[in-house]
Amino acid sequence: MKAIRIKHPAGLDNLAIVEMPEPPPPGAGEIQVRLQASSLNYHDFAVAMGYIPTPEGRIPMADGAGVVEAVGAGVAEFKPGDHVVTTFFPHWLDGAPLVGNFATVPGDGVDGYARERVTLPAAFFTYAPRGWSHAEAATLTTAGLTAWRALVVEGGLKAGDTVLVLGTGGVSIFALQLARAMGAEVIATSSSDAKLERLRGMGAAHTINYKTTPEWGRAVREITSGRGVDHVVEVGGPGTLPQSVAAVRIGGHISLIGVLTGRSGEIPTASLMAKQAKLQGIIVGSRRQQMEMVRGLEATGIRPVIDSVFPLDDIAGAFRHEMSGKHFGKICLEF
Ligand SMILES: NC(=O)c1ccc[n+]([C@@H]2O[C@H](COP(=O)([O-])OP(=O)(O)OC[C@H]3O[C@@H](n4cnc5c(N)ncnc54)[C@H](OP(=O)(O)O)[C@@H]3O)[C@@H](O)[C@H]2O)c1
Repeated sequence: MKAIRIKHPAGLDNLAIVEMPEPPPPGAGEIQVRLQASSLNYHDFAVAMGYIPTPEGRIPMADGAGVVEAVGAGVAEFKPGDHVVTTFFPHWLDGAPLVGNFATVPGDGVDGYARERVTLPAAFFTYAPRGWSHAEAATLTTAGLTAWRALVVEGGLKAGDTVLVLGTGGVSIFALQLARAMGAEVIATSSSDAKLERLRGMGAAHTINYKTTPEWGRAVREITSGRGVDHVVEVGGPGTLPQSVAAVRIGGHISLIGVLTGRSGEIPTASLMAKQAKLQGIIVGSRRQQMEMVRGLEATGIRPVIDSVFPLDDIAGAFRHEMSGKHFGKICLEF
């Protein structure tokens, strides 16, 4: 079967297409899955580029979706033909966060899903939403669940809330869709006026170009008549956090999710304290949360925004497209 392996030195020219042996038939508690799609996240890009070092030969990609081909003894949850999605933290099944690193994360600490077939414990998967394509389902493992956890699990999102989303990447677009589906109002930013128009088309009530309005935190307060937003989905990191603190309401919630502007920096601690806001680091979520999200997505009818789909062989082209910043929503791989 076909797979992608990261050769050293890592980089987009060293993503090798290889043939590898088929996995063994499933043992007790395991399922065999014919993977058919994955989706790109910034984390996968960082691994592929070697910014996050991995051993030579690592199979990249945290996201995977496909069809169950066989089940091992004792597996009652799945049967052949079921459509499934992988989980980001295969061992965090339920309850409070257990993991603070990427040692068990597919495509980083262990081999990921840029391959055609796997045999793994059934608990490493959940059902995909009914009727979704594999490419759509693959967007849930990382981006979808992160947005869900930020707003619904940790933020306690409810109808009438206001949500600020930054930029038009996978997490932010999911957050916009969830917020709209659940009756919240969305303020969205982008560096591109054309993308801002698309955001309005998706139901963003207000949009701000963060390049031409560098003080967008103040703009958000003005839009909300001085109150600020209930939730910020903070994907930028140190370069955007001061503005996010300016934008959040007193007692609001900032989900600290991304590192698009760097890995560390200055935090306006006094402003954050004065806002009495909650600043919460988030890394994806648990299997239980993924199952609840799948149910929620089926109920709302939301479908992911897929920017483009590349064949597995052109994984480097897919990452180059991500690097270009031209995308809106998710970039997927099909195989
Ligand atoms: N903690 C977690 O669990 C978790 C999970 C998933 C992702 N992440 C992180 O979240 C971030 C976003 O991930 P993603 O997969 O959604 O990325 P992505 O799809 O590659 O999104 C990139 C987009 O972010 C926007 N952006 C870039 N710089 C920005 C800035 N200074 N201010 C506002 N927006 C900016 C751009 O939007 P425009 O083109 O519209 O300007 C760009 O298109 C990454 O840092 C990623 O590592 C974290």
